[in-house]
Amino acid sequence: MAHTEVKIGKTDVTSTALGLGTNAVGGYNLFPNLKDEDGLELVKTGLQSGIQLLDTAYVYGLGHSEELVGQAMKDFDRHDITLATKGAHDFTTGEQVIDNRPEFLTAQVEASLKRLNTDYIDIYYIHFPDHDTPKAEAVGALQRLREQGKIRAIGVSNFSLAQIKEANADGYLDVVEDEFSLLHQDHGADMLPYLKDHNISFVPYFPLASGLLTGKYDHDVNFPSEDIRSQIADFQEPRYSDALAAINQIRPIAAAHDATVAQTVLAWYIKNPLISIVIPGAKKAAQVAANAKAMDVTLSDAEYQTIDQAFVKFQHKTSGKSLADPE
Ligand SMILES: NC(=O)c1ccc[n+]([C@@H]2O[C@H](COP(=O)([O-])OP(=O)(O)OC[C@H]3O[C@@H](n4cnc5c(N)ncnc54)[C@H](OP(=O)(O)O)[C@@H]3O)[C@@H](O)[C@H]2O)c1
Repeated sequence: MAHTEVKIGKTDVTSTALGLGTNAVGGYNLFPNLKDEDGLELVKTGLQSGIQLLDTAYVYGLGHSEELVGQAMKDFDRHDITLATKGAHDFTTGEQVIDNRPEFLTAQVEASLKRLNTDYIDIYYIHFPDHDTPKAEAVGALQRLREQGKIRAIGVSNFSLAQIKEANADGYLDVVEDEFSLLHQDHGADMLPYLKDHNISFVPYFPLASGLLTGKYDHDVNFPSEDIRSQIADFQEPRYSDALAAINQIRPIAAAHDATVAQTVLAWYIKNPLISIVIPGAKKAAQVAANAKAMDVTLSDAEYQTIDQAFVKFQHKTSGKSLADPE
């Protein structure tokens, strides 16, 4: 089946509406048990399954996710891949420092190009805002890199609406990545209308709420203390029971499509007009192959509304961030 092509902002960068999040690839510290060969396999499986966009970042394994993504891409035509990465973290002092200065971002892009073993990056995001750099100056540095052909689209991540407006002062911003899922719709009300009005694409992260929205958990869930999910508010009562009740309302719709809950949730994002590309992560190649099939699930308007309504209590400022961002 031919999949819908999505365009990023005002650029000619395109992708399938479903991408692959690779923050577990490379043994990223939140998920320390993922072996390199499993990471490589899951990226290759994504590309073989028709997924075009790969979302990585320097901070995922301090370059190691980028290196593995670069390695996995070797077996494929680079022009068929939409490659997104991010930078802003500096660990050279031993402490984590967030840096958006033009000279720092420029050096980061050069370093990412090397690790990814490519001569251009399709989307480069400023991963986190720092306190001091004027955002239009930070984005201005990325615009110069775009003019040199090193990056093709400019993004920011984890920026407030005020910071997004500042970053877009010259109209250079193409895409924003932030936490958003059926269980975390807080930012939607805040920033999505502005993004739509300015033709800026939106890429939600944690779309499966770290696995909860796949429907695989029940009341007996128990994570070891080192697993970040043991701290996530979604897995704490009474929120957890509310989430399970909402997820149960997806099951009949999934069954009608002969699909899984995860595929149905991903199809909901694909149908959502405010969302550009959804980037579920994965720990196993089989999860990637299954998630890619969400591109074949087309929800009716009524099914879309039923899911929307099932999560209505998560639409307002009641949920908060699920966790301090791991990076
Ligand atoms: N810009 C930012 O600051 C930022 C922050 C966070 C994430 N991100 C990006 O967003 C991406 C997505 O976030 P995420 O991966 O942390 O969370 P997510 O997409 O909400 O959840 C992914 C997790 O759900 C489980 N899963 C996925 N598919 C499944 C399936 N078909 N069946 C059963 N379980 C399945 C896997 O974990 P288990 O197998 O362990 O259950 C997987 O690691 C990241 O990879 C990263 O690229 C960006």
